[in-house]
Amino acid sequence: MLIEDISELQKARFRYCPRLPAVFHANGARVQPLGGDKLEPAASEQDAIRERFPHTYAQPLLHFAGASPNSFKPINVGVILSGGQAPGGHNVIAGLYDALKSLNSRCQLIGFIGGPSGLLENESIPLRSDLIDRYRNTGGFDMIGSGRTKLETTDQFDQALETCRAHDLGALVIIGGDDSNTNACVLAEYYASIDAGVQVIGCPKTIDGDLKNSFIETSFGMDTACKVYSELIGNIGRDACSGRKYWHFVKLMGRSASHIALECALQTQPNVALISEEVAEEDMTLDDVVDTICDSICTRAEAGMDFGLVLIPEGLIEFIPAMGELISELNDLLAMHEETEDEYRTRIGNTHDALTQSKTDADARKAGLSEGAAHTFIALPGGIRKQLLLDRDPHGNVQVSRIETEKLLITKVKSNLKARKAEKRYSGKFSSQAHFFGYEGRCAPPSNFDADYCYALGYCAASLIGNGCTGYIAAIRHLNRPAEDRIPCGVPTTSLMNMERRHGEERPVIKKALVELAGSPFQAFAEKRRTWAQETHFVYPGPIQYFGPANVCDQPTMTLQLEDDLG
Ligand code: FBP
Repeated sequence: MLIEDISELQKARFRYCPRLPAVFHANGARVQPLGGDKLEPAASEQDAIRERFPHTYAQPLLHFAGASPNSFKPINVGVILSGGQAPGGHNVIAGLYDALKSLNSRCQLIGFIGGPSGLLENESIPLRSDLIDRYRNTGGFDMIGSGRTKLETTDQFDQALETCRAHDLGALVIIGGDDSNTNACVLAEYYASIDAGVQVIGCPKTIDGDLKNSFIETSFGMDTACKVYSELIGNIGRDACSGRKYWHFVKLMGRSASHIALECALQTQPNVALISEEVAEEDMTLDDVVDTICDSICTRAEAGMDFGLVLIPEGLIEFIPAMGELISELNDLLAMHEETEDEYRTRIGNTHDALTQSKTDADARKAGLSEGAAHTFIALPGGIRKQLLLDRDPHGNVQVSRIETEKLLITKVKSNLKARKAEKRYSGKFSSQAHFFGYEGRCAPPSNFDADYCYALGYCAASLIGNGCTGYIAAIRHLNRPAEDRIPCGVPTTSLMNMERRHGEERPVIKKALVELAGSPFQAFAEKRRTWAQETHFVYPGPIQYFGPANVCDQPTMTLQLEDDLG
């Protein structure tokens, strides 16, 4: 990176000093752990999880208080960025580095290149201050790269241990989402069971915001990503109000959960924001969803407003019950079962051909779908059918970001409006624009919130390592308070686990946190949405501000603020 290739804003951001919780401010990572209650998963899951995690089950929730009287031996630590990019990842590494040095200046930090595969293949770089300094407060994961290789088999754990031995590592920090932290939990248990001498600590990352519970208030990156998307949605809303001729359909990343769509709705006040969890709860069909949008279009047309904004969560399609059934059948059909690579490839090739060429429900049934799924499949436009058959992600799931739900909805809305016109129930003009926001925000320079939060997460991970912990996720509580008043803690990862059926077998996994319909963020939205659907109340948040008054620069997401209001 040449200095002339760096923007003036970035140069200024290099100098930003992230604000830490008071306990770290005073002591660096040399803090004393205070064990609280032993944390266990939900009662129904306890036996199964206890049996699978005998060494890391029911560890205490840890807080930190005051300076530790201990002296800390130098330790070598490896760090991995896992999964999709999220703003602030570089600050977790910077915080981890600074905090390890505060434990003992002879601690070393090693970065594994390209995510978990770097650990398996021993591709690493030493992380020293000259490198770290070039990435402070920057977006992206390009310092060491990320990847989606799954670390889940004992062979992989042993291979990773060889790499740890080669670098004399005493700890690994895995920065990832629910799946990566699930794998980190299994790895921690395995290393504890064989006395490997390698601690494993996780950090909650994902713009999707679905790795959370009462101690992990949000995953990092969601704040910045939502602010970027909301800026863009606000700009589009203003364009819509100015030109008064387009309905904009904006799909937003977030995979299954609708946290991003809900947060952006709270920030921008669109006419319609679909929330997948509600669609599933209300057992809505695709036609019901289309009706909701068309009702708003018709009411606004009557008032002379042939323009508007619709937000669509990325995972919507999976939450429409009939579509969800189809997708899960397709995931199963396209998954590898007990068969050789060659048998798998031939079977998949045949299934693909049969489904692609299907013209009737009967054809799709012959290709392996049930009656209901075959009917849903055949009713879809050809383009969407093709997208549903694309390669699965490493977890065997359809890649929802590649399904053009926004275009599917536009097509359906057009035919619904045509029918309403024929029945004289609609006389407006409908012209649409489709957008998909995801990559625009995933690597944005972290907001002050994410810069501070992530740097503190790095400190928290180092403090857990310094105190000999394993099988923990670093967390910072009271994120709605000023950075100094926040409380770092270690959450035992097994407490987040539940048993789920994956690829035909029961597995322990971290429960994905979906939008709670009884929660205050959804309730706040639900209270206003009828008015937003009929009138124009768009809010234009503008770009993220990094310097200036706290109410402009340091506000956390509205989701966090509303959740905090409830206590
Ligand atoms: P993580 O859960 O790994 O953080 O990824 C989040 C995400 O941005 C999702 O919102 C999106 O569906 C997915 O990654 C897309 O990933 P990719 O670009 O690798 O296809």
